Amino acid sequence: MAPGAFPLIGHLPALYRDQPGLLARSRATLGPLFWVTLGRRTWFLVCGGAPALDVLQSRAFSSLHFQKGASLVVGRSVLAQDGEIHKRMRGAMHRPFLPRGLAASSMARLMSSALVALVERWSSRGSARVLSDVQEVAIAIIFRSLGIHDADLSAWRIQYRELLLSNLGIDVDIPGSPVRRAVRARAWIDAELRKLVTRVRETPHDESLLGSLAQGTDEEGHGLADDELIDNLRLLILAGHETISATMAWIVITLAARRDLWDTLREEVTAAAEVPTTIEEARRFPFAEALFRETIRMHPPFGVITRVTKEEVVLHERKVPARTTVAVDLWSIGRDPTIFDRPDELRPSRWLGRSVAPSPIEIAQFGAGGHFCLGYHLAWLEAVQFTVAFAKIMGRDGKRPALTSSIPQPIFVPTEHPSPRVEIMFEPETRPPR
Ligand code: HEM
Repeated sequence: MAPGAFPLIGHLPALYRDQPGLLARSRATLGPLFWVTLGRRTWFLVCGGAPALDVLQSRAFSSLHFQKGASLVVGRSVLAQDGEIHKRMRGAMHRPFLPRGLAASSMARLMSSALVALVERWSSRGSARVLSDVQEVAIAIIFRSLGIHDADLSAWRIQYRELLLSNLGIDVDIPGSPVRRAVRARAWIDAELRKLVTRVRETPHDESLLGSLAQGTDEEGHGLADDELIDNLRLLILAGHETISATMAWIVITLAARRDLWDTLREEVTAAAEVPTTIEEARRFPFAEALFRETIRMHPPFGVITRVTKEEVVLHERKVPARTTVAVDLWSIGRDPTIFDRPDELRPSRWLGRSVAPSPIEIAQFGAGGHFCLGYHLAWLEAVQFTVAFAKIMGRDGKRPALTSSIPQPIFVPTEHPSPRVEIMFEPETRPPR
């Protein structure tokens, strides 16, 4: 068992304070397989190293536990399914998220104009609390792609914030409690999503993201029923903004801290006329893409992913019984010196000049196997759009980002992100670095 567990609350404080540190220290002393507890009889068997990827690719592990653990947000969406149901849902949903689907839809243009507007605001204001600003824009993008009007955005934001109270893990259900508020918010969100679904079902050939999902079918022609579509839309709102906004905020913080990276990026974007709107165009910005990949490696929004064993399995030569919750340690993969040379250094150049696409283990921060991130290409495009827009607009205005203090410690719950208090200044290029 990992050292340092407290009675009743187990490793919770250490997981909040320094999740990768706890797992790395335990791995160093115990090897790649050890137990972590959240107290109250909740145990995880942490599994690191290459076999961890096998866990995500094997049919001996299940994702059905998400229907219980994270049910208010995740419901019975694609994330919380196994086998045939998962295959059907995924088959019906994947088209708009592929590079070709992204190029054909209005999503990329919607993202680009919202991100450009954000950077223009930052440049004229001179400073920004980056995390909350990018979160606001990223969630607005996903809401708009579902056909929600700008006038209704703030009501949706409020309800979604209420729904996320269910992630606090406080399950006391009394009037005014986080759970009660989250249940009420979910009822509001589901009722509104149902109206959107009804409307889009009556509009054939709607090319928005919502339209594509409503019309989508798998290879056998099966689509999503209304309730399934609603569960998946609720998941997409969360998956489509929490992760990517943390990544964009880390990119700004990194560029503010590292003048060398800022200069290289500025050189790359100077000649570019436009912000890219397809994956093909995004590939013309290899340094921006490398910065995105390196940021995700250093700051994976999900440091661990859980599965439950359906049967007895062998992991790292140990027998693991059925119904064990296994936590796949993605931190350990991102910092493995046999996969990444000098893994503790943030070095985008490690991704440059390659002739082959990154291997599954190099992009394990997006998961692996059947549940590999559905939004991978979207996240890649959005991050490159943002990075290019940021460097272009700041460069045009003769500015560069600067930190007002040292690089902040990450926050690890519910997913890894920088502190919302971090403020970035946009200073004249001519001012000497702090
Ligand atoms: C930095 C960006 C992102 C990261 C690091 C990330 C990471 C992940 C990971 C690790 C999983 C696998 C979870 C598991 O196996 O239990 C996943 C699944 C998923 N992601 Fe992402 N994600 C990102 C962005 C996005 C975006 C932008 C969207 C949608 C707009 C999205 C939609 C999804 C969906 C729907 C799934 C479930 C897929 C399935 O179960 O088949 N993600 N993501």
